Amino acid sequence: MQIGIDQIGFYTPNKYVDMVDLAHARNEDPNKYLIGIGQSQMSVADQTQDAVSMGINATQSYLSQIDREQVGLLVFGTESGVDQSKSASLFVKSALNLPPEVRTFEVKEACFGMTAGVMIARDYVRLHPHHSAIVIGSDLARYGIATAGEVTQGAGSVSLLIKAQPRILTLNDGHSAFSQDINDFWRPNNSATALVDGKYSTQVYLDFFQRTFTDYQKLKNWQTSDFAALIYHLPFTKMGLKANRLAIANQDEATSSRLAANFTAGAQYGRVVGNIYTASLYLSLLSLLENGSLTDNALVGLFSYGSGAMGEFFSGRTVTDYQKMLNPMATQKLLNRRQKLTIPEYEQIFTTALSDPVDDLILVSDEAKGYWYFSGTKNHIRQYRQK
Ligand code: COA
Repeated sequence: MQIGIDQIGFYTPNKYVDMVDLAHARNEDPNKYLIGIGQSQMSVADQTQDAVSMGINATQSYLSQIDREQVGLLVFGTESGVDQSKSASLFVKSALNLPPEVRTFEVKEACFGMTAGVMIARDYVRLHPHHSAIVIGSDLARYGIATAGEVTQGAGSVSLLIKAQPRILTLNDGHSAFSQDINDFWRPNNSATALVDGKYSTQVYLDFFQRTFTDYQKLKNWQTSDFAALIYHLPFTKMGLKANRLAIANQDEATSSRLAANFTAGAQYGRVVGNIYTASLYLSLLSLLENGSLTDNALVGLFSYGSGAMGEFFSGRTVTDYQKMLNPMATQKLLNRRQKLTIPEYEQIFTTALSDPVDDLILVSDEAKGYWYFSGTKNHIRQYRQK
């Protein structure tokens, strides 16, 4: 039985910062951000968009096309959780009217959280082939104003429907994982922004990629040249580019130019959305599928990385006519609807969003009709509304 991705939903907030503007404001050469880091824009969430509302918005983009009664599992991967106890997924389940029988919980291991959910979902569907599973990754990447990590911020969510006989990507059996207790990136409980040793994190990421990619090729008895595309967790596109350069070193011309071109296609959305932590790898997948050139049954390798640190390499194959399940024009519309912020506007919105509003204050969202948003707390209980 084939199991894999049948639907992909994506949401990013309605505001962004242009990296040239940010570079000027921080007295940096714009090419450092555009080429050195590889980012052109970053989405910015105001106080009314959090991990939950973004996850609802990403999932509702395909909800009318699925049988809600079949959904037996809902997993929410995030490192921007809204509560220390209650799962973000329960707010989503309620907003989207999913059946009460659904098993639902939140998963955390930095940016690896959504992949953990995908693997749980794959195994769940194998045992429950008549059920489907929704896996959401949703995050706000926040390092702070005028920090080195500022240029690698972003906000957004990707939601996947995992089921038997999927129509986008079948997930191959097997994986290679590698974990180590290290401190390259973390966010203490009392901090709304992350702490990071960016250079160390890059080294560990590349080391984990090489280990897991090599082990995976041994496991499957496959060569680099067997892959149509390799995609990566992209905290900023240069990080993935460095890994891809390692992958294509010493490959024949056809392999290296194919993997380089499909890397660029896979990085297109991340370059303008920024880091969305758990969902970043899956935004690369969407970007590859909507902008790359893949045949049917094309072998796609996926490298997932979560600081702390956990790496995993796995793969999938495109399903015939997978293009019919995608809507690149809708993705472009979502990106183009964003309003460009001046740097002072971004700084003000960013700073306000770092803390929760006072209890009982009703927040008003400037999102378009139909989108969900966080409208404040009532008796310290988070409230979500639809525009
Ligand atoms: N034109 C082109 N490239 C330029 C440049 C210019 N004018 N100026 C600098 N660069 C290049 C540098 O050579 C470097 O490239 P390299 O990485 O290939 O060597 C790159 O731009 C970054 O420069 P650097 O001086 O290293 O930047 P920095 O000290 O400001 O830090 C990060 C960059 C990425 C380390 C920092 O933004 C960060 O920590 N981000 C968070 C990373 C993260 O999210 N990690 C955890 C998640 S997995």
